[in-house]
Amino acid sequence: MLFRSWEQATGGDLLRWPDVARVVDHVGVEHLLVTRHALVRQVLTDARTFRPDNALDAITPIPVAALRMLAAHRFRLPPTLANNGGDTHPGIRALIADALHPTRVAAQRDWLAGLVRHRVADLSVVLARGTPVDLHTDLAADLPLLVLARLVELPDAPVAAVKRFARAALELFWAPLDADRQQVLAAEMGCFHQVLREFAATGDGLVGDLRAAGHPPDVVVGALFFLLVAGQETTSQFLTLLMHRLTGEPAVLAGLRDGSVNVADVVEEGLRLEPPIVTWRRVAGVDTTLGGTVVPAGASVVLWLARAGRDPAVVQSPDELRPGQRGSRRHLAFGAGVHRCVGDQLARMEASTLVAEAAPLLTGVRVVRPPHYPDNLTFRMPDTFVVRR
Ligand code: HEM
Repeated sequence: MLFRSWEQATGGDLLRWPDVARVVDHVGVEHLLVTRHALVRQVLTDARTFRPDNALDAITPIPVAALRMLAAHRFRLPPTLANNGGDTHPGIRALIADALHPTRVAAQRDWLAGLVRHRVADLSVVLARGTPVDLHTDLAADLPLLVLARLVELPDAPVAAVKRFARAALELFWAPLDADRQQVLAAEMGCFHQVLREFAATGDGLVGDLRAAGHPPDVVVGALFFLLVAGQETTSQFLTLLMHRLTGEPAVLAGLRDGSVNVADVVEEGLRLEPPIVTWRRVAGVDTTLGGTVVPAGASVVLWLARAGRDPAVVQSPDELRPGQRGSRRHLAFGAGVHRCVGDQLARMEASTLVAEAAPLLTGVRVVRPPHYPDNLTFRMPDTFVVRR
């Protein structure tokens, strides 16, 4: 269940799950799965009791051979952002927040809208011929990386290489894996880490700011690593999840076209119903209790963000996409507290731009192949999404 938790996140099965469920994973480790919105929020906002240190721990322990492979590339992941419960977190976070300031994000909107409009026009011609198109690969997948590169002056690595490396990271840290696959992923990540190290030593923009603030090379690389994964792969997954959902929501698409439905409200409902990050982890820093359950220090706490978004205690129609409904914006897709996602405005801008431009394209298409989502504790990772007229 842990690795396909989005399939069981619906509001209707509320009674199936206790507030805090004990779940044993594929290697025999016990986790406390937190299912209710109020408790998920409580954990996220209490960083003293529930620390972020395990956020990037590999759910399948990495065997020695793969660790050697990573070490050969001098791969290290010191605490920088999501897994940093220490004193350096606020300073690093502040630099990232500056780079992603809402005015800088807003300045990218027209450029992105132009690019999406162009792609939508091309794809409309293909669809009109009766030819299927892959909306993930041909429309959405690379958009967040292209925008991020403009915002934070990323290394000039080819898009395909960054995407391969980011997906390798999501698989190595969050998927159930065998040793052979871990070795392949470790090799992929090691190679790219080397590229990041070189860029971290010389790059401008955000990377230069991190160096100027006195952060050591490992920290600069670690922050860049996290940003390249969190800052584009998550949104790219979300764009596809949202488009897929909207193809089954003709009334919402009609409302978007005639202006009676607000684009931003659609994006919030998308985040609530189809979050790309379905769970997030914390580790208990002390012996404590949560909703009456004893939580010993060191326990892994898995926060079911996708389930929290559909909690009937918070939202009126938990499983229905109703733009603007009561409770819609109270989802926890971006987390909460001091580690709350610092890219939320960027993700929202990208999603609302795509929805506004692509609503006519999505109207009346038939889904030929819905995205496939591989087993993963945390990320949805759609592959392709093929539609035709
Ligand atoms: C739909 C897209 C996205 C979703 C659903 C998402 C979700 C999340 C979640 C759940 C967390 C952990 C929050 C917590 O621990 O409370 C997080 C952290 C983070 N996200 Fe996002 N994210 C998205 C897009 C982005 C983008 C576009 C960027 C940057 C370009 C970004 C950068 C970060 C950073 C830097 C952190 C760590 C913050 C910290 O520890 O201080 N994310 N995100």
